[in-house]
Amino acid sequence: MLNTLDLVAHGPVIPVIVIHRLEDAVPMAQALVDGGVKVLEVTLRTPIALQCMEAIAKAVPGAILGAGTVRNRADAQAAKDAGCVFAVSPGYTSEVGRACRDIGLPLLPGTATGSEVMQANADGYLFLKFFPAMQAGGIPMLKALAGPFTDVVFCPTGGITLETAPQFLALPNVKVCGGSWLTPTDAVAAKDWGRITLLAKEASALKRG
Ligand code: 3PG
Repeated sequence: MLNTLDLVAHGPVIPVIVIHRLEDAVPMAQALVDGGVKVLEVTLRTPIALQCMEAIAKAVPGAILGAGTVRNRADAQAAKDAGCVFAVSPGYTSEVGRACRDIGLPLLPGTATGSEVMQANADGYLFLKFFPAMQAGGIPMLKALAGPFTDVVFCPTGGITLETAPQFLALPNVKVCGGSWLTPTDAVAAKDWGRITLLAKEASALKRG
């Protein structure tokens, strides 16, 4: 079973992907992989999300596919069945942690406060999503969390852009960040996969601190 912290070895950015048309799933994922971004978080936010995951898992072998917006046991099981090899949750409950452990699905749990970090730590999770990053305090909050949580590493997502990502990646407790800027709505609508590959290349080239 994959260790979620191993995901950071593949690059500094994990795209957070919302797919509205099934036909876009494979070319979008391929465009990201072609640009050097292999770790993909496809969110369970659209009715076709599971079908999209299945299609990507079959047709884009270079992708390391994860499910985002996993909120409960049913989501976790469906994501695993669709071919996802890790899960991301927007928040954390011990129930979702237990569900993922029961089925052998590595989880990147979402946290935004000290109490949530402690709950996730108590259940064995030390690599956490910090969401929604900008709204929950951004860089000053991550710096503050580094004080008590010396052994915790974060993947901030929410409101991060190509321009602001380097400031997050410069923090010692941030190894990777997430965002939807790699798959802009207008580029997807126009099936401009070349632009998505370019955005992926730019994201892959970002330096960590
Ligand atoms: C999310 O889960 O919505 C992600 O954090 C993406 O946020 P963004 O669209 O602000 O990048």
